[in-house]
Amino acid sequence: MLSQQTIDIIKSTVPVLEQHGVTITKTFYKNLFEKHPELLNYFNHANQVRGRQQTALANTVYAAAAHIDNLQAIVPAVMQIAHKHRGLGILPEHYPIVGENLLAAIKEVLGDAATDDILNAWAEAYGVIADVFISVEEDLYKEAEKDGGWRLFKTFLVTKKVPVNEIVTSFYLEPVDGEILPEFKPGQYITVRVKVPGDEYTSNRHYTLSQPSNNNEYRISVKVEDECDPKGVVSNFLHKQVNVGDTIEVSAPAGLFTLEENNSPLLFVSGGIGVTPLNTMLQTMELGRQVSFVQCARNDKSAAFKEQIEKKVNELNGSYRILYSEETGYVTKEDLAPFISKDTEIYICGPAPFMETVISIARDLGVSDDQIHFEFFGPAMSLEALASAN
Ligand code: HEM
Repeated sequence: MLSQQTIDIIKSTVPVLEQHGVTITKTFYKNLFEKHPELLNYFNHANQVRGRQQTALANTVYAAAAHIDNLQAIVPAVMQIAHKHRGLGILPEHYPIVGENLLAAIKEVLGDAATDDILNAWAEAYGVIADVFISVEEDLYKEAEKDGGWRLFKTFLVTKKVPVNEIVTSFYLEPVDGEILPEFKPGQYITVRVKVPGDEYTSNRHYTLSQPSNNNEYRISVKVEDECDPKGVVSNFLHKQVNVGDTIEVSAPAGLFTLEENNSPLLFVSGGIGVTPLNTMLQTMELGRQVSFVQCARNDKSAAFKEQIEKKVNELNGSYRILYSEETGYVTKEDLAPFISKDTEIYICGPAPFMETVISIARDLGVSDDQIHFEFFGPAMSLEALASAN
């Protein structure tokens, strides 16, 4: 239990740390990787270059600290991060390393302003926040091990590699030990761990499972990422260098972006490769619930799974619409309005700016936040955003 004095110090210094948030976490990562280069086996090197992970961690620590006297309030948001941590194999012994380096970075950046009282209060608060993560994550590890599952990574064989279109390829993966795979929920992802030739450390990426659960194999559908900077190291490695007969390491399915069972009308809105979790959800649906699917893609060539989606939507007597941004520009209120009524549940997945647009259109059309469900690809940028995600 933290003392009132500690809580007061934390609450009064959150704004100061927020102000220096990015500098502190940049310093923190620099020192962390200098002292513990082995942790580069866990972190996404591309996100480090883009600075995205810095923002995610900074925001989360401050948002958590702002709720330090009521951490229950942030448990739903912690859950989402904990799923990612569990998929990556983050362990309790990693937390003190992060804590020590975060404290040292606060001291380095704030200089004399970081008094002993302030540093002690933050050390205590970090300990409390870390304990919440560690205990939530331990529950997830236990859950992952149930029903034939496993705790960390398991070796899978690539049994098929099938192009979906010019930019997306599906990889079919079977466990080398031949064990039966536990059931997962449509919308969940696996974490793939690979060693890219020339890189000193392993790289991890989360990929949505792109076909409904079965006992024998997983399928992921990966978009080649040649145009972004830095390029999609893992996606490109999978496309160009991983072939049938090769093996990769995979963690058990994780993630909270799954379809809630109820009778409300349902609208799926996908942007680009964000179609994968929504298509997996769609493919498991049965006749009865009113469903619409708006698929947004750059052009006809890049619209993955469009025939399969249209066919399934027709079987469900639903509505399907495809929008090509090269022809009609970005999705608009007029595009979505015909599919939205006040009780529609909306599931959105795509790049962050796309999702922001769709979320704001949905709100404009009177849909409440608890009916809007979305999944960020890449690190979620703020805890507030995470908190309103479910
Ligand atoms: C209380 C402490 C921590 C907080 C508040 C925190 C917060 C976060 C957040 C917000 C994300 C982004 C989640 C997303 O992708 O949506 C994240 C991802 C991640 N965290 Fe943590 N984390 C903590 C501790 C740790 C520790 C101890 C480690 C291990 C050394 C770790 C390793 C990672 C890694 C590898 C990622 C994936 C990020 C990437 O490289 O893309 N975190 N964490």
